Amino acid sequence: MISSKIEKALNQQVLLEAESSQIYLAMASWAEVGGLSGIAEFLFTHSDEERMHMLKLLKFINERGGHGIVPTLKAPPLKYKGIKELFQEVLDHEIHVSAEINKLVESCLKEKDYTTHNFLQWYVSEQIEEEALARKIMDKLKLIGDDKAGMYIFDRDIASLAGGGTAKGKPAE
Ligand code: FEO
Repeated sequence: MISSKIEKALNQQVLLEAESSQIYLAMASWAEVGGLSGIAEFLFTHSDEERMHMLKLLKFINERGGHGIVPTLKAPPLKYKGIKELFQEVLDHEIHVSAEINKLVESCLKEKDYTTHNFLQWYVSEQIEEEALARKIMDKLKLIGDDKAGMYIFDRDIASLAGGGTAKGKPAE
């Protein structure tokens, strides 16, 4: 059984993961409409992964005697200034998610909730991978600069990074 404090904190994380899915979905749609099919594919997959992260949390809360709350979501932005700005937002967002996961882990230790602490280790590892991937993408974009041919190749190749090491977010059985 989880404490109401941990239940509330986990439900906050459900909200954050659902928002992540929603934001990446909006980014994917923007990219697809702009003819960036590789980037769109990457972001559609990323959005699906975030939904898995949300679902895994929600199911865990229910299994532990709480109530996983399906949250109301804000409408995400419709447009982005450019590809670099978009991926910088992805990186900043993932850094924020990591910080929130770390806070959750800390709360579990304070509350002596070792079961939830153990459950959250998956998210800790996942965040390391997600941040590393977002940084790798930003590094590539910095190298490309304003080179149109480079951007064409980036869009073609990024689809292969979709789900690269981060598609393990299956909901808990
Ligand atoms: Fe589930 Fe990208 O945080």
